[in-house]
Amino acid sequence: MKSPSRVLPAILVAMRLGPLTLVSNLFLSPLAGYTNLPFRLTVRELGGVGLATTDLVNARSLLERKSKALKLIETSPADYPLAVQLFGSVPEEMRDAAAYLESVGIASADINMGCPVRKVCRVGGGSAMMTELAKTARLVKGMVEAVKIPITAKMRLGWDDENITAPDLARALEDVGVAAIFVHGRTREQGFSGAVNLAGIRAVVEALKWVPVIGNGDVTSPQAAKVMLEQTGCAGVSVGRGAFYNPWIFQHTLHYLKSGELLPDPPFEERVRVMCRHLELMIEVFGEAHGCRMFRKVAPWYAKRFGPANEFNKRVVLVSSRAGYYEVLESYRRWRQQFVDEAGDLKPRFRPAPLVASFMAGAGVGQAGHIPVPKGPVEVW
Ligand SMILES: Cc1cc2nc3c(=O)[nH]c(=O)nc-3n(C[C@H](O)[C@H](O)[C@H](O)COP(=O)(O)O)c2cc1C
Repeated sequence: MKSPSRVLPAILVAMRLGPLTLVSNLFLSPLAGYTNLPFRLTVRELGGVGLATTDLVNARSLLERKSKALKLIETSPADYPLAVQLFGSVPEEMRDAAAYLESVGIASADINMGCPVRKVCRVGGGSAMMTELAKTARLVKGMVEAVKIPITAKMRLGWDDENITAPDLARALEDVGVAAIFVHGRTREQGFSGAVNLAGIRAVVEALKWVPVIGNGDVTSPQAAKVMLEQTGCAGVSVGRGAFYNPWIFQHTLHYLKSGELLPDPPFEERVRVMCRHLELMIEVFGEAHGCRMFRKVAPWYAKRFGPANEFNKRVVLVSSRAGYYEVLESYRRWRQQFVDEAGDLKPRFRPAPLVASFMAGAGVGQAGHIPVPKGPVEVW
């Protein structure tokens, strides 16, 4: 027998989502207030993203063509394939919103299920929970039957450790034809604290016959993505906050999964280039004044990997024009000189510590808290 001429990669990277063929099994998670068109284009330009998702969008507002909802689903040819995440509990509205998305060329619709059986979880489960599951499954069935685009669902593991409902819910949704299930490996009670529970994600994978599960939570490095894929058997990984810190994470993870090789961290100037590109896209999409104001909360995420950046952060949160932003940046460059060596690299004691996912071997649970969570309604995430 002929021996294989090359070693096959351990992990499959391309994947199908219903009728879509994705270039990778790496997804950009919905992050309300952040995953707008400029951010999505920024990460897509760096490569590696299989599918990006919008912020959550209220189904009714979309049907009413509210300008805020329409702005949230704004897209462009370079922003393909795109999933829009819908939020709502009225089956007809969710169905019609999915049909509307399909009619305007959106590739996929995701359903926000933060914790859909929450009332039930609170009273302790039982048959009421099954009623709620059946209700949720009916809502999803209505959507699946109304459109050809894939319908996916995003959920947490359940209410708390005693009420892990994701496997049952996922199974019920598989029966009505969802194309994939996204699981954030924490309970609602956990919020964003504690470690991501890989066994919990694996339980969802094992509960399903054919629907792919996309694991999510704390993936901040290519190695963390690989560990999640290997230990849960999930078909893909979705990255949220890790993409704020490191918009290169998709490209670097894809490369790592294919070749086993870790690409070096982007140098400061490349981080600055991408941050400026992100701002320019914000200005293009939202106008100069609004785009700059929105960028006030974005720039400090880039700065987390710059080394000492208090001078930058203090001033960038006040910018209201492009010229003002570039002035802040230039003055920061000069200030930062004191922390770099002759080659322009940060002196070792000023280098930011690597980000370690809560579930990586040797990482203390406490380290998970090092991934900051911007303010917002955690209960629906
Ligand atoms: C600022 C912020 C906004 C979020 N918005 C949404 C949202 O609109 N819909 C949703 O399903 N999840 C939302 N999430 C949850 C993320 O999609 C993701 O499940 C969670 O952050 C865990 O993944 P990560 O550790 O990679 O960030 C949000 C999280 C954050 C931090």
